[in-house]
Amino acid sequence: MASEDVQRGLEDVVALESRICFIDGKGGRLLYQGYDIRELAARSTFEEVAYLLWYGRLPTPAQLEQLTQRLAALREIPPGLREILDRIPKDSSPMDVLRTAVSALAIFEPEETKPGASSIGGALRLTAILPSVLGYYHRRRRGLPPLPSRPDLSHAAYFLAALDDRAPSPLDVKALDVALILHADHELNASTFAARVTASTLSDLYSAVTSAIGTLKGPLHGGANARVMDLLDDIRAPERAEEVVKDRLAKHERIMGFGHRVYKVEDPRATILREWSRQVGEAHHDLRYYETLRALEGVVHREKGLYPNVDLYSGSVYTLIGIPEDLFTPTFAVSRVVGWTAHVLEEYQDLRLIRPMAHYIGPTDLHYTEPAERA
Ligand code: SDX
Repeated sequence: MASEDVQRGLEDVVALESRICFIDGKGGRLLYQGYDIRELAARSTFEEVAYLLWYGRLPTPAQLEQLTQRLAALREIPPGLREILDRIPKDSSPMDVLRTAVSALAIFEPEETKPGASSIGGALRLTAILPSVLGYYHRRRRGLPPLPSRPDLSHAAYFLAALDDRAPSPLDVKALDVALILHADHELNASTFAARVTASTLSDLYSAVTSAIGTLKGPLHGGANARVMDLLDDIRAPERAEEVVKDRLAKHERIMGFGHRVYKVEDPRATILREWSRQVGEAHHDLRYYETLRALEGVVHREKGLYPNVDLYSGSVYTLIGIPEDLFTPTFAVSRVVGWTAHVLEEYQDLRLIRPMAHYIGPTDLHYTEPAERA
């Protein structure tokens, strides 16, 4: 083995076969189980897409109704988990809260976490409860009582209601539903790969999702959407975009929301979210984010030839519909838990322990010395 055999970051390494998601990095296309994300974003719902990713086909009306009812029925937080959430400091990282909640849930509900369980029960439970956990934590840290789970609300509407006791507009709910569709899966991104590595040892579904949440937290992956808003705060107005970007690039800093390991053209999800950022901005009479992001795109492409990824516009939509910045990455997790669990179930069905190798570059001829003899 030699250094040239090493593919750092597993770049361009094909690790396994999957039917769940296809990314055409050169053409800028994204398919879920064969369906183009643009059609799904325009015509589907998050619940329908969840069914598609888990079962490999679009649901009949009866199947969709049953899934919707099962998700609504699984929103309740068990008392033991509430006690743990009540003890978590109010200034904790919401991603740490999600990771802790999934770990704790496995202890209170072991039936869904049997190693290698191919049941979809755990996938439904985790998908249903993450909005409840986030809502419970976000209300509690502001001294507000938890919202009772509202089986009358769709997943997206429930998520917004769980955060705040206000009736979001149908447009805001639709914008979130589309964002949840767009974030639901993305082949072997780092957090999904972490979930599959965990599942490939025949560990349980909840452990795999715990691995994934810890991975998504990183700013080079799920954490970029919030960092884009910090960048917008620095830029403040479209005419300052060039100055700020050039300054950051001169310091060899990454511009959050741009670039992608697989897409070599515009991320199709960014295309869709750009339009939603404009629509929601118009509805809320606040196009500041949209206009500054458009200016930012032009400068980054001119200076670095980079294209926007899914994280560039999502934060502006979330901010306008009332989701606080430190809940942006958790919102990504609320959606991506469907993809994580779909991949874990696929791994269980065609299991192969995932275990790459390292090219060792250290010494091979050292001998033990007594402590007194060491320098
Ligand atoms: C997500 O994998 C997925 O599918 C992830 C995701 C999903 O749905 O799960 O799509 C979600 O994570 C989207 C990406 C969110 N992250 C960011 O927006 C952070 C900023 N982006 C970069 O850090 C970067 O683009 C990555 C991490 C996303 C991809 O980096 P790569 O493929 O490892 O590319 P690289 O680091 O080798 O960079 C290649 C060149 C370098 O220039 P040189 O040093 O060779 O001159 O491009 C430059 C980089 O400096 N570059 C950037 C840049 N991204 C790459 N320069 C400035 N700003 C950037 N954002």
